[in-house]
Amino acid sequence: MRIEPKEFVSIVGTSGAGKTTLLRLLLREEEPTSGRIFLDGFDITDVPRRDLHRIRRRIGTVFQDYKLLPMKTAYENVAFAMEVAGRTPEEIKEDVPQAIQLVGLTGKENNFPHQLSGGEKQRIAIARALINRPDVLLADEPSGNLDPGNTAEIVKLLLKVNGLGTTVILATHDREVVNNLGRRVITFEQGHITSDEENGTYMPDIGKEKTQSV
Ligand SMILES: Nc1ncnc2c1ncn2[C@@H]1O[C@H](COP(=O)(O)OP(=O)(O)OP(=O)(O)O)[C@@H](O)[C@H]1O
Ligand SMILES: [Mg+2]
Repeated sequence: MRIEPKEFVSIVGTSGAGKTTLLRLLLREEEPTSGRIFLDGFDITDVPRRDLHRIRRRIGTVFQDYKLLPMKTAYENVAFAMEVAGRTPEEIKEDVPQAIQLVGLTGKENNFPHQLSGGEKQRIAIARALINRPDVLLADEPSGNLDPGNTAEIVKLLLKVNGLGTTVILATHDREVVNNLGRRVITFEQGHITSDEENGTYMPDIGKEKTQSV
């Protein structure tokens, strides 16, 4: 498969289809048994372990369970990602408020994760994922723990991020989300691509599943 810069692609498929595995391959958290993986034309398949941070720096990640540091405030969670990347205190002071504003959480900077709603936690996680200006944002079931209202807000935010020039790869089995997006949809079944459509939809074969479970 090939994903172009600035695309917004949904990766769909039932549980165990291989969505997370695909994202882990892109991050080189998983090694392919065959095939090659390119990022911006550069073959990342054999990059030595010590250089992996160079790849990972170009990819932001967001997960279903947010993965915020509980002892750090919203601001500190975002700032920490810049510290780890070796950015200066001046850069941090300039960029973090901008990122928090982008995700609509100005005023909640000093809240700890337990003082944020699920939707707010995911917004901070997205701010953190974007803070080092990655080329690609990988979102693995980012709305999996959210209600429909918050889910819609997170999807809107991902579209906004995409509009600002970041490639977005969204793995989800949320049919509603995908079918409302009107963007490219790649469907996986048991580790294989079974469809790849512009303006695609996700319609899991409910009839088949029912038959199997009888
Ligand atoms: N490290 C691993 N080694 C071997 N098998 C694995 C490994 N990680 C995942 N798998 C298997 O690969 C398949 C795909 O898993 P994956 O986590 O990618 O599915 P998924 O599409 O993300 O599912 P879900 O919607 O439940 O998150 C599953 O059968 C899983 O058991
Ligand atoms: Mg998964």
